[in-house]
Amino acid sequence: MKQTLHLTNTQHDIETAAAILKDGGLVAMPTETVYGLAADALNGKAVRRIFEAKGRPMDNPLIVHVADFSDIERLHLVSEIPEKAVRLAEAFWPGPLTVIMKKGDVIPDEVSAGLDTVAIRIPSHPDAHELLKTSALALAAPSANTSGKPSPTTAQHVIHDMEGRIEAVLDGGACSVGVESTVITLVADTPRILRPGVITREEIEAVIGPVEVDRAVLHQLEHDEKASSPGMKYKHYAPRATVKLLRGTNEAFINYINRAAKRFSPVAAMCFDEDRERMTVPTVTLGSKFDEKDQARRLFSALREVDRMGERTVVYAPCPKADGVGMALYNRLIRAAAFEVIDLPDKKIIGLTGQTGAGKSEVADYFREWGLPVVSADLAARRAVEDADVKAALCAAFGDILLPDRSINRRKLGRIVFDSPRQLSRLNGITHPRIIQLMLEEAQNAGGEIVVFDAPQLFEAHADLFCTHIVSVIADRELRMERLLRREHRTEEEIADRMDAQYEEWFFLRFSDSILYNNTTRGELRRQARTLYERLVCDEP
Ligand code: TXA
Ligand code: MG
Repeated sequence: MKQTLHLTNTQHDIETAAAILKDGGLVAMPTETVYGLAADALNGKAVRRIFEAKGRPMDNPLIVHVADFSDIERLHLVSEIPEKAVRLAEAFWPGPLTVIMKKGDVIPDEVSAGLDTVAIRIPSHPDAHELLKTSALALAAPSANTSGKPSPTTAQHVIHDMEGRIEAVLDGGACSVGVESTVITLVADTPRILRPGVITREEIEAVIGPVEVDRAVLHQLEHDEKASSPGMKYKHYAPRATVKLLRGTNEAFINYINRAAKRFSPVAAMCFDEDRERMTVPTVTLGSKFDEKDQARRLFSALREVDRMGERTVVYAPCPKADGVGMALYNRLIRAAAFEVIDLPDKKIIGLTGQTGAGKSEVADYFREWGLPVVSADLAARRAVEDADVKAALCAAFGDILLPDRSINRRKLGRIVFDSPRQLSRLNGITHPRIIQLMLEEAQNAGGEIVVFDAPQLFEAHADLFCTHIVSVIADRELRMERLLRREHRTEEEIADRMDAQYEEWFFLRFSDSILYNNTTRGELRRQARTLYERLVCDEP
């Protein structure tokens, strides 16, 4: 196709755009929410081209845009205008609200995707209004992005996705709302929000009474679940980089990301302006923490920036609270993150780990004696393998490893993973997430503000990311060997194998905040531990 025309809002350009549309062409137009990819809504052939340009599945219906409320009747777009639609129109149109009603016969199947309903919206952006007025058309317009990618909020975003695929883009500057319209269906016993936007449930309820929120707005659909809004079932807003949402306090958010950045690369963060300075990783701003509308305005630009970071990058973002305007942010971010949310503890977690035989358990005993709750990873691991889901996953991975009483045959499992790093990492991939979850739950239920994680595999399980302070107990290899030979019924070779399977000393030194050297007597270890304890527990503000 030819180059895409770049138009602005001069009368001449608007007339050019209107002519293209009347001719069955495609024009990207600015709206207050996001840019839309418009075609004559009553021309099925023109509408079909929208799907081709976007790579959009044909079973996902489009929103029909009109200039004025009277156009809905004039063009027979719906079979009946419910009284609640009139009230919504008075309160919110022109504006970022889309109302689903029973469709009129003139609506082509391409627009409604075979449903008996049609989505209608009157945008408030002056350029969209001019284009609708000048063309005197109803315009079918989905967001003007490549299907699955973040919606475009500038003409440059549109050109990035659509150059050469559409006749023209009408540049109306950056969109002022930034997330797509609130979609509500009136074709239900109770009106139901199918997609949240900046017009909130609360605002709508003030006008038409009780409103439901569709389950798919906040939850991932099950495989066999039917979507009320077909758009909800597709992968959406997904940048190439992996996005993970973190739910927790500000402190925990910053701590987790900074630790992840030290351990893994590349890592980046989407975060609020107020927190950017404290991050040690590249950041993309989500706007001000105190201004959700600002966050909505910036969201898709931020996701596009994240897209440019490439697929190896892990990008952490704060998980929004799912009410008010936050629901619109949550709905987009949770999809960008493929529904992955990590819950952060709101306590201080001291991670206690170290080399085998170095004396970690003794230090755990001291901490316990001095009143700190100690969560044992070993005990959590025993519980984790008895968890039904974990058990099922283990059997799927390693075959029949159950005892007659249906508990896990730990010996058999041990033999399978022994000597096979690949099998061991499969085992860990299944058990570690559950172990961490159990430990975090136990920490949350423990009294007090500070909890110790006693975890020989703190780093392997990535439990270190949740820790506010990491302590490693270290000792010379010969000493550790001596202690273990005395204590355990194992051969020197077996113990050496276990030592070699651990990280090397430099690793503990690099990723810990404190080191306790135990080439010494019990009394001296206890003294060192006490000094650390006082620093962590008593001196902390
Ligand atoms: O703000 C917006 O709504 C933007 C601007 C351009 O107006 N448009 C937009 O369109 O976001 P689109 O196609 O990207 O999203 C429309 C959503 C989809 O999730 C679609 O499945 C749903 O609305 N939808 C459209 N018609 C529907 C219908 N009859 N029943 C249920 N859902 C419908
Ligand atoms: Mg869209």
